[in-house]
Amino acid sequence: MQKHGGNVWLAAQTYGLKEESILDFSANINPLGPSPLALEAIQQSLLQIRHYPEPQADTLRKEIALLTGLPEEMLILGNGAAELIYALGRLLKPRRVLLPVPTFSEYADAFREIEQVHLPLVRHNNFILDIEAVGQQLKQDDLVILCNPNNPTGHLVAKEQVKILLDLAQTSGASLLLDEAFMDFVSPEQSLLPELPANSHLYILRSLTKFFAMPGLRLGYLAASPVVVEALTAVLPPWRVNLMAQVAGVASLRDKPYRANTFAQMNRLRPLLADGLSSIPGLRPFWPTANFILVDCRESGYTAEELQNFLGPKGILIRLCENYMGLDKYYFRVAVRSEEDNAILLLSLRELLPKT
Ligand SMILES: Cc1ncc(COP(=O)(O)O)c(C=O)c1O
Repeated sequence: MQKHGGNVWLAAQTYGLKEESILDFSANINPLGPSPLALEAIQQSLLQIRHYPEPQADTLRKEIALLTGLPEEMLILGNGAAELIYALGRLLKPRRVLLPVPTFSEYADAFREIEQVHLPLVRHNNFILDIEAVGQQLKQDDLVILCNPNNPTGHLVAKEQVKILLDLAQTSGASLLLDEAFMDFVSPEQSLLPELPANSHLYILRSLTKFFAMPGLRLGYLAASPVVVEALTAVLPPWRVNLMAQVAGVASLRDKPYRANTFAQMNRLRPLLADGLSSIPGLRPFWPTANFILVDCRESGYTAEELQNFLGPKGILIRLCENYMGLDKYYFRVAVRSEEDNAILLLSLRELLPKT
């Protein structure tokens, strides 16, 4: 089983299809595709690849500083948020890592040298995080890692609750690593970025690959105290964010209509797809907040892999979730795509799971 979604190259080989004909519901990428301004900026940058990019992506850093209101010294860019997750795994030396699961699997891998306490999010509670329960476990020098909204469950912990967790962490002498890779799909109001300057034990990770639909370019950033940013800068190579990613990042962040359009589309398409899935016998979607939906298919009588075997030859990819800690072979995740693509997914699933 593949560790991640989004491997259209392998799917094309497996099903004997062209990569461009695959409807990839397995990676959570904005269905609008990249911002037209980003594509234009990349095209205009083609001749500039004969030069090195800015070593620390300063122009992009300034743009993010402007957008977030944070000083540049609190921002560091990475070749995808994934690079920064692994860099933090090498740099931070917490006593223990507290990780609610299921969640993005790279955290368990990146912090594998550190003792980990996995806090199970349970299905009968809709995978909702119990902040008080986490608080009770916290000890001096622990690091709590929280993906908000969480991948793959789609659950969002409300900002007020995260602030409570932050306070509990501070009181215990622990730190909080908050992964807001999908926060752009939710609302800027739910982000904890404004809390950063007052909280040196808070680290916030953001990705630009999902909302701005450029996972192939790789782009993410960490917002943290200047001390942590400086230490990370010292252990990471310069020029790690390539020139095209830098110009595409600046152009994407400036594209306000694209942002507004994405919100409008998502707010319409997300509940439509969730309702469509729940109307299919045997499927139980969990309420989504970002651009993807976790589904439990045990009552359909099929495993997620069997569903994939049926959908694959039709060029439809879903994300099997068995390899997420705490999930089993009856879970899969789908991205919210365009109205037409979502309709094709629903139609195909209805073919296999008709109403009796
Ligand atoms: C919660 C979460 N954080 C971070 C990442 C990594 O994002 P990037 O593509 O920027 O490396 C992912 C990718 O799926 C993710 O789901």
